[in-house]
Amino acid sequence: MMIAKRAREATPFIAMDVLERAQVLEHQGIDIIHLEVGEPDFDTPQCVKEAICQALDRGETHYTHSLGKLELREVICKHYFEKYGVKISPDQIVVTSGTSPAMLLTFAAILNRNDEAIISDPHYSCYPNFIRFLDGVTVTVPVYEEDGFQYRLEAIKSKITRKTKAIVINSPSNPTGNLLSEQVMRSIAELPQYIISDEIYHGLVYEGKEHSMLEFSENTFILNGFSKLYAMTGLRLGYLIAPKPFVRPIQILQQNLLISANSVSQMAGIAALEQAGPDVTRMQHIYNERRKFMVKRLRELGFGITVEPTGAFYVFANAKHLSKDSYKLAFDILEKAHVGVTPGIDFGSNGEGYLRFSYANSIDNIREGLNRIESYLRKRR
Ligand SMILES: Cc1ncc(COP(=O)(O)O)c(C=O)c1O
Repeated sequence: MMIAKRAREATPFIAMDVLERAQVLEHQGIDIIHLEVGEPDFDTPQCVKEAICQALDRGETHYTHSLGKLELREVICKHYFEKYGVKISPDQIVVTSGTSPAMLLTFAAILNRNDEAIISDPHYSCYPNFIRFLDGVTVTVPVYEEDGFQYRLEAIKSKITRKTKAIVINSPSNPTGNLLSEQVMRSIAELPQYIISDEIYHGLVYEGKEHSMLEFSENTFILNGFSKLYAMTGLRLGYLIAPKPFVRPIQILQQNLLISANSVSQMAGIAALEQAGPDVTRMQHIYNERRKFMVKRLRELGFGITVEPTGAFYVFANAKHLSKDSYKLAFDILEKAHVGVTPGIDFGSNGEGYLRFSYANSIDNIREGLNRIESYLRKRR
């Protein structure tokens, strides 16, 4: 059996490998604390669930417009205007079944064979696989702990070639939980390349304020979705906002490859944007408590956190004093301490030596997980 190169070359999402090994251990009756997953532990807001039931009762179980329901696209425009003061029109939006398809369509619309896309290192682990799948080339720009993992403009410029089509930003970031400063965003906006701004963690910001790249540049593709902020991962709903000339070609790709986003989830998305404000505030508050607790405890345990993360639900902690091999370390912690953590190498070679801890888990579980790691570290000495 010959498996196609495209499928053979994809690299595993290690966070999922950790989770799957954890599930094997759980099957053997072992209690595991999950700090590896990038998924909200909260229940989906009640108003969202009700909107789904109502949509089902009305029989809204059919294909929708390939760009997405107009009402949802209008609500997204309103959201971008109220939150960032930017004016976009519904015909710039393509609603997709999650942010991941929005990412696929965006890269597909920008990259020709061997075109380059710049991403930070560390970065969301799936970006290079999307780029490679589309025969593009990933160019990484290392970002460093002492800079709060912010891009340095000069470092981006030094990697730009004739082939560079896009620069990807992700603020707040997975895996670092840090935000890009307004100043860095403004200077990236001045570069002639397209900017792909993955804004999926917007709203999950505990200090300072996040900016949309649309505030600074129209040469921008926005990727966003409902998975994280509204605890709707399984409902698979996201969208992209594109410069107008790109919308029709992207729409045609969506029509052919994906047809439309899930109809019921689109109604859920409208409810989320219009009604879930109080739920979001409650979740933000709880995440923030957990964030402070986790940062404090990890520092007590000797992990390095130079710049406190202020967004998403991750802490990217320096564990180089324990091991240079984060993959081995993460699996050792799983096997011996029964705590799931994600190795930094999952996010690029510059993430080696780090561990990503997710605080999308209850404070009791975080406390227990970190206590177990404390005992594990004591035994290692
Ligand atoms: C930075 C980033 N972008 C996109 C996604 C994909 O999200 P979705 O569930 O909307 O496909 C994730 C999920 O972890 C993410 O962390």
